[in-house]
Amino acid sequence: MRIAVIGLGYVGLVTAACTAAAGHDVVGVDIDEERLARLRLGRVPFHEPGLSELVAEHHATGRLRFVADAAEAVADADLVFVAVNTHDGNGGWHTGTIVRCLVGLVPALPDDTVLVVRSTLPPDFVARLGPLVRGIRLGAGRTVTPVAINPEFTRESTAIRDFLSPDRVVIGVVDDPKGVAESRLTELYRPFGAPIITMPGADAVMTKLGANLFLATKISFANELARLCERFGADVSTVVEGIGGDPRIGHAFLRAGLGFGGSCLPNQVSMTVRTAAEHGVQTPLLAAVHAINGDQRARFVDRLRLLAGGELEGRRVALLGLTFKPETDDLRDAPSLDIAERLLALGARVVAHDPMERARERAAALVPGLEVTDSAFQALRGADVAGLVTEWAEYRDLDWSQAHTLMAAPLIVDGRNALDAEELGALGFLYVDFGRRGLRDLDAARGAPPGTARPGVDAEHVA
Ligand code: UDX
Repeated sequence: MRIAVIGLGYVGLVTAACTAAAGHDVVGVDIDEERLARLRLGRVPFHEPGLSELVAEHHATGRLRFVADAAEAVADADLVFVAVNTHDGNGGWHTGTIVRCLVGLVPALPDDTVLVVRSTLPPDFVARLGPLVRGIRLGAGRTVTPVAINPEFTRESTAIRDFLSPDRVVIGVVDDPKGVAESRLTELYRPFGAPIITMPGADAVMTKLGANLFLATKISFANELARLCERFGADVSTVVEGIGGDPRIGHAFLRAGLGFGGSCLPNQVSMTVRTAAEHGVQTPLLAAVHAINGDQRARFVDRLRLLAGGELEGRRVALLGLTFKPETDDLRDAPSLDIAERLLALGARVVAHDPMERARERAAALVPGLEVTDSAFQALRGADVAGLVTEWAEYRDLDWSQAHTLMAAPLIVDGRNALDAEELGALGFLYVDFGRRGLRDLDAARGAPPGTARPGVDAEHVA
């Protein structure tokens, strides 16, 4: 098939590269000429394992091309994917870009070319989509074109595998009287062997949102469970292993820690709460998911402060990890930025490391006062307390005995429950996490029984 992809951000570029890898002729379009020039050299504007190789390989064979002119790209396309940004990066939906894109693009579509929206859409936009496209077509004196929604369920760092071996494919029908959209999308995805679920467009939009809202809910649930575990002397990792054995619950996405970040989960929770309220729908569960997640970041900072003796003014804090999760260089809604700002506001000197150079540079530019270093040991050198923010393998495998000799005090808060507490304890670290040992080591060091309130320092523990 001949495929055009409009918008070469994360979602669009993965779609373009993977459909080319699946044997189709693909043209990618972006308004950013510099991005196009770099892509033609096989340079991908963000870190996604395997993606630059895929882009370079298929660009070299001519199966994947990059052009600036959308009309040229769609001239002989069977399928046109639209993958432009639909949120404002500030907790709100933003449909201006996609509407502008459709107004420019839709008149140029050949008759019977299928228009597929791959961007995540706000639930109140889907009802407008069909009439909008139809209106643009008719206004331009063209025939009606088939329209579908095809949400992506790809995770950063495993996007290529998620695209080429999906769990399921959702086709949302918006305007498809002859069934052309459904049959072309089915032809595209059938070779991947996953169940293909066709449903009305409104259901597809809600399926995409619902999946992310549920994942976010699972994480906030695990974080609340971790609070209970700490209070009653249980270990949340063991508890999750135990409850996850029930196939109705499962093990995935129940890792407690400092909470979720990234471009999808936080935004989609807060945007859904906001949009629902605007339409008179109460979403107390999602509001709690959002609040718990924000709280985890505050608790992480609290734990660093507690470990440092209740005061961070003038203290040197080492942060390990800046990206919102490992194997990406993405800083969108990364908890690290929020955490660094809070620590700086408390008067700390904050020195951070991340394996991704681009993430280090951007974090330093985004958070005034944040210092970054290109080695974990440099960040840890002279630190009064350290916090693990992102569970990069490099930190798990770090020579912690050397870290111990470098730090001013061997104190660490593990925000991802990713480090070996026994090993660190044996090396002489005072180790604090979320719901495994919690503050137990700290209590033991202070000679206080577990769960004892520390007035003025950890109000959470008093509850
Ligand atoms: C997410 C969805 O998983 C994906 O299906 C959707 O298409 C886009 O949004 P992504 O943003 O790449 O993907 O990140 P994901 O792997 O889902 O992780 C999100 C955040 O949750 C990360 O900050 C991660 O550290 C955190 N997380 C994840 C936890 O805190 N605990 C867990 O158990 C799992």
